[in-house]
Amino acid sequence: LTLCFCVLVVAYLLGSIPTGYLAAKLLKGIDIREFGSGSTGATNVLRTLGKGPGASVLFIDSLKGVVAILIARELFNFATAQDLLPGTINVDIWLSSMVALTGFFTILGHSKSIFLGFSGGKSVATSIGILFAMNWQVALICVGVFGIAIAISRFVSLSSISGALAAPVSMVILNQPLPYIIFGVVGSLYVVWRHKSNIGRLIAGTESKLGQKVDVDV
Ligand code: G3P
Repeated sequence: LTLCFCVLVVAYLLGSIPTGYLAAKLLKGIDIREFGSGSTGATNVLRTLGKGPGASVLFIDSLKGVVAILIARELFNFATAQDLLPGTINVDIWLSSMVALTGFFTILGHSKSIFLGFSGGKSVATSIGILFAMNWQVALICVGVFGIAIAISRFVSLSSISGALAAPVSMVILNQPLPYIIFGVVGSLYVVWRHKSNIGRLIAGTESKLGQKVDVDV
C-alpha cells in the first residue's frame, strides 16, 4: 500500500512538471497562461513561442507519461518478484490496475499542476505518452485518428478530442485488460472535459486553427 501511494504521488508530481510554463518563462519571460488559449500545453506553446519550443514541449510532456508508466511497471514487477503482494491478488489485474491508476495521476498532474496553483495543460501529449507505454498499437490508432482529423479540420482541439475518444474504442478492439479500458473511458472523458472552452469556441466559430499565431508583446 505504501508503494502504491508513493508511485501515485511520484506520477502526480512528474505530470505536474510545468514544461510549457517554464519554456515561456525562460524564453520570453511571460506567463503563458495569459496568452492564447491560456493552456500550458504544446499547442499553446506553438502558438505563442513557435515550432521549436512547441515540438520540445510536446516531446517532454509525452515523455512524462512514458516515464511514469515505466516507473510504475518496474516497481510493481519488482514487488511481484519479491512476493510483496498479498497472496489473494491476481498479479495481472494488480499490475494493470496500478499502471492505469498511475496514468490517471500523471494526466491529473499535467492539467492540475501543484506548481501552477492547479492549472496546466489539457493532458493530450501526456496521455499519448501513457498510451504508448501501455500499448503502442492503441497509441498509434489514436495518433492516426488525430492525424486524419487535423488534416481535414486544422483544429488541434477537435483532433485531440477525436484522438481521445478513439482510445477506449481501440482498447476494446485490441482486447486490453479491463483497468486499461476503464482508463481509456475515464481518461478520454477527462480530456474532452478539459477542452470545454475549445468546444465553446468551435461552436461559436472562433476557435483558432493550426498555424495561427499569438503576438507576444514583451
Ligand atoms: O492539446 C491541447 C489542444 O487540443 C488544444 O490546445 O491551446 O488550443 O486549447 P489549445
